[in-house]
Amino acid sequence: MSETTLTVNGKTRTVDADDAMPLLWYLRDELELTGTKFGCGMGLCGACTVHLDGRATRACQTPVSAAVGKEVTTVEGLSPDGTHPLQQAWLEQRVPQCGYCQAGQLMTAADFLARNPDPSDEEIDQAMAGNICRCGTYLRIRKAVRSAADKMGER
Ligand code: FES
Ligand code: FES
Repeated sequence: MSETTLTVNGKTRTVDADDAMPLLWYLRDELELTGTKFGCGMGLCGACTVHLDGRATRACQTPVSAAVGKEVTTVEGLSPDGTHPLQQAWLEQRVPQCGYCQAGQLMTAADFLARNPDPSDEEIDQAMAGNICRCGTYLRIRKAVRSAADKMGER
């Protein structure tokens, strides 16, 4: 165990953690940021997706040591008050079913739209393909990403 300091959602956080501990454990168990979910633990489902310096990253496959010196953003930090255009579109389109995969979906979509503000439906499907939803909300996810992209373009 060693003292580890990370920047998470704009705040400096220091805890005792093994450097090899997956970032997902650190976020959920040490910092109690439970919006990020454990799904497969193997990098396959995307439920644990957070941002590292703005890029969608699987927290279950990222050791805490790899996040030192980077900005970690979880779904709790996507916007200060839940008004990110994606979060609003998610509500408008009533995307979540059980909700389990949705934080990961939002974080993947946020990184994607930051890099591709006016995507085609095919590009949206491609970008979101690594995030599995066992409830099958894929069509609503596509609609919500499209709608958020349109709103962000109007600003
Ligand atoms: S829990 Fe990380 S990809 Fe499934
Ligand atoms: S909403 Fe249930 S797993 Fe995606």
